[in-house]
Amino acid sequence: MTKPTNPLFARKPLSMLLEELKGENRLRRVLGPVQLTSLGVGAVIGAGIFVSTGAVARQTAGPALTLSYAVAGLVCVFAALCYAEFASMVPVAGSAYTYAYATLGELLAWIIGWDLILEYAVSSATVADGWSGYFQSVLNVFGWKLPHAIAGPVVNYDPQLGHLVATGSYINLPAVVIVALVTGILVIGIQESASVNTALVGIKVAAVLFVIGVGLFYVNTANWHPFAPFGFTGFQVFGHTLLGQSDAGGKPVGMLAGAALAFFAYIGFDSVSTHSEEARNPQRDVPIGIIVSLVLCTLLYICVVAVLTGMVPFDQLDINAPVADAFRRVGLRWAQFLIALAGIAGITSVLLVTMLSQARILLAIARDGLLPAGFFAAVHDRFRTPWKSTIVTGIFVASLTAFLPISVLLMLVNMGTLFAFVIVCAAVLIMRRTHPEAERPFRVPFVPVLPIVGIGSCLLLMFSLPSENWLRLIVWLAIGLIIYFSYGRKHSKLRKGAET
Ligand code: ALA
Repeated sequence: MTKPTNPLFARKPLSMLLEELKGENRLRRVLGPVQLTSLGVGAVIGAGIFVSTGAVARQTAGPALTLSYAVAGLVCVFAALCYAEFASMVPVAGSAYTYAYATLGELLAWIIGWDLILEYAVSSATVADGWSGYFQSVLNVFGWKLPHAIAGPVVNYDPQLGHLVATGSYINLPAVVIVALVTGILVIGIQESASVNTALVGIKVAAVLFVIGVGLFYVNTANWHPFAPFGFTGFQVFGHTLLGQSDAGGKPVGMLAGAALAFFAYIGFDSVSTHSEEARNPQRDVPIGIIVSLVLCTLLYICVVAVLTGMVPFDQLDINAPVADAFRRVGLRWAQFLIALAGIAGITSVLLVTMLSQARILLAIARDGLLPAGFFAAVHDRFRTPWKSTIVTGIFVASLTAFLPISVLLMLVNMGTLFAFVIVCAAVLIMRRTHPEAERPFRVPFVPVLPIVGIGSCLLLMFSLPSENWLRLIVWLAIGLIIYFSYGRKHSKLRKGAET
């Protein structure tokens, strides 16, 4: 290994990554292409389509939300190709974190690993929040209602007032309970989790096809006019609106701003790459899993949103369970019930995959010594799962979802994930220069154009999110840096290796 001039930028050699694959504490290789694609779809279709479409169409994009979903899907395609190249080159757990370690050095790898907590753990909390909403809408069908004190987050965002207000609730109990259940399933094992996931994915894809196939007959094309009541853009730089309009609270609105929020619905396709180590033939199957799941979900989303905004005038869409509620409005109460049930199943599968991925990222970071390995990298003797990381993830997710609302969590998740995508696209460019000879079973086409377009489009969406999210991202990253300089830097295995 060449000794780097500054250890903060020490890169983990590709050969070392591949060598580690043969070591101890490895996960079982049980996943094939169908299971990987199913894990991708499992991580993608969830609260983003079943829950947040209502609020985003009403407050940000109008019927142009269909276009917002197309734009967000396209942005993800650029990043997905870059993920696929890396996943085929370095098929180990850890995803963007591992890729950054090999290309950009230890400090940036830690930053990205820390950032991925926003993508996975904080997004799990967001999804659990959405789960709670659908669960309660099913209870309502039977006339049951949870006591207000345990039915929702402690605070919520009021768009009229433009700030957070107390809801009068003490805890979002259904969300906490589902997180605890999913944690338990994940500790038991990846194979079992993959089977549960495959069943749940089947249910939700059927529900989505049902929404499209049946909903189509209830579309009133007049509801698509005006198509873009908030305009086609919505772009701010640190609070200054450069393109389009903003709402009463100063947040950008329009089709592009809608795409920045709709982006949440796509998060998860990249989690396929965190399962590389459990794939039977990672070089071939992981790129397939990433790309097929993304393309499939993009097509389904565009159809669902077009149908939804055609069934109900955009300003009358329900905020908590818009897809199920659209069928109530057209008189199909039985369909409302079925979709709500499928929504619950679908959102549960997202939770399974995102929490699974988070635990694996912690495992990868701990193996490198940047987090205590004895704890975070421990693999259970019998279950062969990173059980301690899984339980810590569960506790963290449950604590967030107990108190915070989906509206606040979602934007932070999008910001963090877009940032991760920027780094992955950049890392592909760097790796092509530093390791042109490395074997790449899957190659991004049109390099450098495509990764550069990927970086630019992710930044565009980041600026289309309300600007306070930049501050939140920076604070989060600053906390990460404090942890790195007080622990990781001293315990890094790569650094210790370089010193001996
Ligand atoms: N894409 C995931 C969802 O929509 C996070 O629930």
